[in-house]
Amino acid sequence: MKKLAAGNWKMNGTAAALAEVKALIDAYPDPACEMLLCPPATLIAQMAWAARGSVLKIGGQDCHTGTSGAHTGDISAAMLADAGASYVILGHSERRADHGERDALVRAKAEAARAAGLTAVICVGETEAERDAGRTLEVVGSQLAGSVPDGATAANAVIAYEPVWAIGTGRTPTLAEIAEVHGHLRARLAERFGPEAAGMRLLYGGSVKPSNATEIFAVANVDGALVGGASLKAADFGAIVGALSAAD
Ligand code: PGA
Repeated sequence: MKKLAAGNWKMNGTAAALAEVKALIDAYPDPACEMLLCPPATLIAQMAWAARGSVLKIGGQDCHTGTSGAHTGDISAAMLADAGASYVILGHSERRADHGERDALVRAKAEAARAAGLTAVICVGETEAERDAGRTLEVVGSQLAGSVPDGATAANAVIAYEPVWAIGTGRTPTLAEIAEVHGHLRARLAERFGPEAAGMRLLYGGSVKPSNATEIFAVANVDGALVGGASLKAADFGAIVGALSAAD
């Protein structure tokens, strides 16, 4: 299994930010882990062009369930692939909160992504109230069951555990809490997908930065990270790529 350092630029970045991509590729021409950046849709084609001939992969942040049609403002998985993406983030908590996305919709989007040849990074995570109520494993288990499609494989699906309260806050769960959730996700995937589950990458996301990456990557069943704020600067994201490459 090749570990994955994934950057989620969210609604940040214009063409000027592509200088960061060049700096990242120059600093990490051949890291031991896979390296992915998911810019806003407006930058996918330009970023894919900037990354041509390099190992950097490009992804979208969302896609529609359909392939084409009368859906103003939406983008299909095939369009993302056509623009140069090979991944797409689905069911991020900001999509779930801002656009009311539920598990069944995320699952349908993941099926569309698979049909277009994209690897889906499917996000799950509890709110602070859910954690305080002791419901974390129940919540992430149910999101996992509802959001991951039956045809998921190690090649076409990646799971990202992102506690909602850790995103953009500088707060992270303890390493033991991360280990508990990732172990639970691995076990649920194994129940459903059998031996295939061992190769499915489980990313941790939520306030990952250069200063905490090494300790998080040492946690069992953490196969990489989904990084928001710290993915915007090549120096920070590169340090996280370096930490993941050094993890065994
Ligand atoms: P953050 O975001 O690294 O800025 O906390 C992570 C994410 O939402 O993917």
